Parts: sequence; structure tokens; C-alpha cells
Amino acid sequence: MKIFKKFLEYSRFSTGDFEKIFKGLEVPPCPQVVAKLLQKLSDPDIEIDQIVPILESDSALALQILKISNSALYGLSQKVTSISKAVSLIGLKEIQNIAIGYAMTKSLKDPHRPEFNFPNFWNETILRAIFAKLVAERLKIEAEEAFSASLLQDIAIPLLMDRWYELYKGVYKRWLEGRGLLHELENKILSWNHAQAGAWVAKDWELPDIFVCAIGLHHAEISEIKKLGLENTSVMPVVISSHLTNMKDHKNSLKLLLETCKGLLAPKETLSIVNESMELVDEISHAMGIGQ
Ligand SMILES: [Fe+2]
Repeated sequence: MKIFKKFLEYSRFSTGDFEKIFKGLEVPPCPQVVAKLLQKLSDPDIEIDQIVPILESDSALALQILKISNSALYGLSQKVTSISKAVSLIGLKEIQNIAIGYAMTKSLKDPHRPEFNFPNFWNETILRAIFAKLVAERLKIEAEEAFSASLLQDIAIPLLMDRWYELYKGVYKRWLEGRGLLHELENKILSWNHAQAGAWVAKDWELPDIFVCAIGLHHAEISEIKKLGLENTSVMPVVISSHLTNMKDHKNSLKLLLETCKGLLAPKETLSIVNESMELVDEISHAMGIGQ
């Protein structure tokens, strides 16, 4: 069964309610470079020579790819000085995934709301993305796909704060007051959550199905991911990474994270990945030029 079908089976996203709920919620346009990449991606016979010029056509994106490729996230012994070298050292699919994740996050603007700290949001998001990549590497799952999908897991939050502020701020404030997990408060008060909203946005952008699924399922239980047969896809590390949210504020987060990883990673290994991610977060935030 196709991956998106599995997601549709699971999610209320399939009811089409979101068309109604978000009527009037204007989704920012998909960056041109991503639209072009996605169009090329749909061709299985695509050659590197056709992808590199697309990435190079957006100089800001190209620069960020070089910075990320040269960061400690890859630990390459050679300096990456061109997109084609990045592709040959890291891989075409991996670079495409980085480009999609990066360009989409860049298209989100600070909603400038008193309750919403945009730099903190990105800092925590990047921490989770690094964590998802490192977990994916341990689980032998596509790491860059996990990195970018994790980077996009909460894309709906700044959008909702920006364009749905009057309706959404009450839920967000309750979460800031520590009255529950954000997606649970959303389910209770709005009857939908930001994971579903994010999947709706990603679908609108026509992002690859695996991204739509990872975003839409990022707060699902591990048992549900297994039931859907998605445990060996990048959805899994994204779901695990979602537990890193508010780790600094909630004592129980670490316990919950260790419980989530049970049977997948030893507690010692999980803690070491958390520490490694924390050490990398400043450098990667800087390399990506977001959240600052
Ligand atoms: Fe989330």
C-alpha cells in the first residue's frame, strides 16, 4: 500500500474537513526552487546535471547548502565548495531533502505575536531535526529525509499564529501556561491539531508524501506508526524527535523520550544522542541562518 494511503487511513485529514476549517487561511506560496525540484523529482530518470543548476539558481539556498554540508553535522574531511561537490559527497537525494526542508522553513515569516518567540521556536525545531537525523542514522533510516521532515513538523504553528491568531492564541497560551501538551490541548479545544494542519499545508505545497505523513503523524504513538507499517521510514525518527519539545521546561520530557525509544535505542544511547544534538544546535542554527 502506498505510504500516503496509509496516512489517509489513519488521519482525520482524509475527511476533507481541513478544506472547510482552513477556508480563508492563506498558505504562503511554495518557493519556486522547491516547486522546480519537486517537478524534477517526479521523474525517476533524473540526472544530477539537471538538479544542480536548479539548486544553484537560488544563490541564498546554494550558500546554505554549502554551509550545512561543511558543518559538523556531516563531519566531512574535505571542504565542500560547490553544489556538485556537495551532491557527490553527501548524495543527490540527501541534498534535495536539505534544500526542501531549508527552503520551506525560510518561507515562514515571524508572525510577531507577543506569545510567540520565533527564535526559540526555530532553536527547538533545529534541535529536534538534528536529533531525528542522528536517531535515523542509528536506526539505518534515511537521515536527511528525517532531518528535513522533522524541521517541518511544526510548520503549522507560526502559520496559525500569523493567520489564525484570534482563534489559535487561546490554545497556545494554555500550552505556555503548562496546562498540557500542545497537540492534546488543540484536540480538546479545536478538535484538530497542528500536526494535521501541517500535513494539510504540506499537501497544499505538494511536498513528497513522506513529508506529509511525517508532519501529520509526528504526535502519533509509536504503536500506531508500527501498525501503519511505517517503522522503517523517516516518520519514525520524526515521531521520536517530537518528544524533545519543551525538554528544558518539563521534567517528564526526558522520561517520556526514553520510554518512547524503548526497544529501539538503549537509554544510554538515547541520552548520548540528546547531548550530541544539543552540542550541535548552535552551529547548525547558524549554518542555516534561521532562528536568529
Ligand atoms: Fe508538534
